[in-house]
Formats: sequence, structure tokens, C-alpha cells
Amino acid sequence: MSHEIQILPSLRAADFTRIGEEIATVESAGTTTLHYDGMDGRFVPNISMGLPILESIRKVTKCWLDVHLMIVEPERYVEAFRAAGADSISVHQEASPHLHRTLSLIQATGAKAGVVLNPATPVHTLDDVLGLADFVLVMSVNPGYGGQKFIPAALHKIRQLDQIRRQRNLNYCIEIDGGVDMSNILEISEAGCDWFVAGSSVFRSESPATAVRDLHTRAVSGRQLLA
Ligand code: DX5
Ligand code: ZN
Repeated sequence: MSHEIQILPSLRAADFTRIGEEIATVESAGTTTLHYDGMDGRFVPNISMGLPILESIRKVTKCWLDVHLMIVEPERYVEAFRAAGADSISVHQEASPHLHRTLSLIQATGAKAGVVLNPATPVHTLDDVLGLADFVLVMSVNPGYGGQKFIPAALHKIRQLDQIRRQRNLNYCIEIDGGVDMSNILEISEAGCDWFVAGSSVFRSESPATAVRDLHTRAVSGRQLLA
């Protein structure tokens, strides 16, 4: 997949009474990928949006829909989320003991497959699936809630993942999720990240369109420092 820098507004931070407008606003600022959180109240303590909302969103946007499943036994829902409109689907390493099979199942539906690491899970646990995954999502907060503080230890994981893909000549993208804002995005980009999920820093800001543009500009500067 292309390693082009992307800001992914996280829809769970949007105003659901006017979700179509919120999406149109970030699209006007250049957004081409949206992040969608699925939670089950079991893998994480919270419950978010399920299938019907994804179906509705699919109808109002041409954006790539990146679905992050924070649910137990995610393999049971892969096909349903794909049918509801997901373009990429990520599952947690901690929630899927048969990770190789689950990633293959996602790809068999035609979607791109990602694997997610909680803050407590080290990169080396993915050694044997990095050749299969289309992307790796590093959690920089404990999943379940928006608006939490960025955990800086995530930077080291991004660096490790970037180094491994160079050394092993792999092509996966690196995504970060949790607490990303103008104060840390430069450093995250410089560490080797490609996709930046941003919830509060986009939809809870005064101007979501300006926030998307500013975050993108700063992430691109970080990439230049890396190169
Ligand atoms: C956290 C979710 C995130 C969340 C990010 O469990 O996976 O996608 O929406 O929100 P912010 O950017 O506010 O931390
Ligand atoms: Zn997420």
C-alpha cells in the first residue's frame, strides 16, 4: 500500500446529529480516509457504533472507510463489517489468537487487513504476521475512549516498525491512534508513521477543516525530517 501521509478523522468524535455535514467538512479539507471505531463493551469497557451506522455513512461518502474493531472474536464480524462498507479492517493482536487466519479472512473479503497493538503489547509479537498484514496500527492510548493523553512509548514502536519494514523489505503501512494533535504529530511522523487517526483534535476543534489541513502540513514536515 502507498505510504502517503494521511490524516484519518475519527468519526466517534463527530457530532452524530449531523454526521453527513461533519464528513463533508473534513472532505473539503482533503480527507480521503475516515476512521471508524467498533467497540463491544467486552474487549474494551465502552460501546461505540455498530453496523447500521457504518451502512449509513457508506451512503454519504466516497472516502475510504478504515474500521478498527475493538471487539472479542473479531473474526465473527469481518464479513458483516465488509458488507456494511469497510475498505480496511483492523483487529487487535490481543483479541485474535489465530491472527494469521483472521488477516487472511479480511483479505479474502477484498478489504485491506490491519493488526493493532495495545500500549502493553510489544512489536515482536507480530514478527510472524508482518509479511501478511497490509498495515499495523499502534495504539497510543488504551483503547475505548477518545480524548485521552498520548502515551509517548508508542513512538518507539513506530520506529521499530519502520526499521523492520526497511530491513525485511516489507510494505505495510504504519498507523497511529489516540491522543494525536498538533503538539505531537511532527514527532510521530518523524518516527516513520504514515496514517494518523485524529478524533478530538479534529472534530472537537473550532474548525475541523483547518485542523485536518494543519495536522497534514505538520505530518508532511515530519516525513521530510525522516527522509
Ligand atoms: C480510541 C479509539 C480512537 C479514538 C481517538 O479507543 O480507537 O480512534 O477515537 O480519539 P482521540 O484522537 O480523541 O484520542
Ligand atoms: Zn480507533
